[in-house]
Amino acid sequence: MPEEVIRIEGLFKDYDTPAGPFPALKDVNLAIRPGEFVAIMGPSGSGKSTFMNILGCLDRPTQGRYVLAGRDIASLDKDETAALRNRTIGFVFQGFNLLPRMNLADNVSLPLVYAGVGHEERRARAQAMLDKVGLGGYANSLPSRISGGQQQRVAIARALVNRPGLILADEPTGNLDSHTGEEIMGVFNALNDEGITIVLITHEADIAAHARRQVRFFDGRIVHDAPTQQHRQPTSAASRRPPLQREGGRGEGQPSC
Ligand SMILES: Nc1ncnc2c1ncn2[C@@H]1O[C@H](COP(=O)(O)OP(=O)(O)O)[C@@H](O)[C@H]1O
Ligand SMILES: [Mg+2]
Repeated sequence: MPEEVIRIEGLFKDYDTPAGPFPALKDVNLAIRPGEFVAIMGPSGSGKSTFMNILGCLDRPTQGRYVLAGRDIASLDKDETAALRNRTIGFVFQGFNLLPRMNLADNVSLPLVYAGVGHEERRARAQAMLDKVGLGGYANSLPSRISGGQQQRVAIARALVNRPGLILADEPTGNLDSHTGEEIMGVFNALNDEGITIVLITHEADIAAHARRQVRFFDGRIVHDAPTQQHRQPTSAASRRPPLQREGGRGEGQPSC
């Protein structure tokens, strides 16, 4: 594994607007090592999502260097970039983005369809990931049958199904009440304990306190980058109900050991 999962050097992003180029990111520099848990913070309009889109290879910088898992993105064509993204990154969004007519197992296994994995293996891996987030008993349910917090767990299972080393999450607790948000942070904490690198956008200080490092944007620049001062463990309520099952475990809320 390369020394850094992410290396960004001298990165600028301009958007074309009728009034001319709008500089959304200005000389951003950042390196993230394997196993880190980083919160990206900053007010609305400060460039967080623009930055996340570039980290996720969904958009390209106007200027500067982005090295993901040891590969310089500028040297890759579209297909190579997509392949690197699919095997390296799992995405979690604010709105869960589950397909409403597909059951949970099919939602979770969708990234494996794109990866060309066969039906039986897809089903087995989806089941294992649903077990892991405590929803193994709901594989055949539709998303509308479960709560928002459970839907976000399914979205995390989907993000994990390709076994990525890096999770990018854009406001993953933004649509959840604070208690359920805590539970979801418990899931991210447990994944980070397993060694998965997590980069999570949030504008909530309570949520960011779960990360071990906080990076703050303002007006397209990084203005703060330091270890979390008062690192927060999952609340007792969240930890009473183990957020992660061992792979192969069954049922919701059963103790994992
Ligand atoms: N597609 C776009 N075209 C023009 N300007 C954009 C576009 N996307 C974002 N912006 C502008 O770039 C700045 C940063 O936006 P964004 O990255 O979405 O910030 P954040 O996620 O921190 O709220 C904002 O001023 C926003 O209006
Ligand atoms: Mg945003």
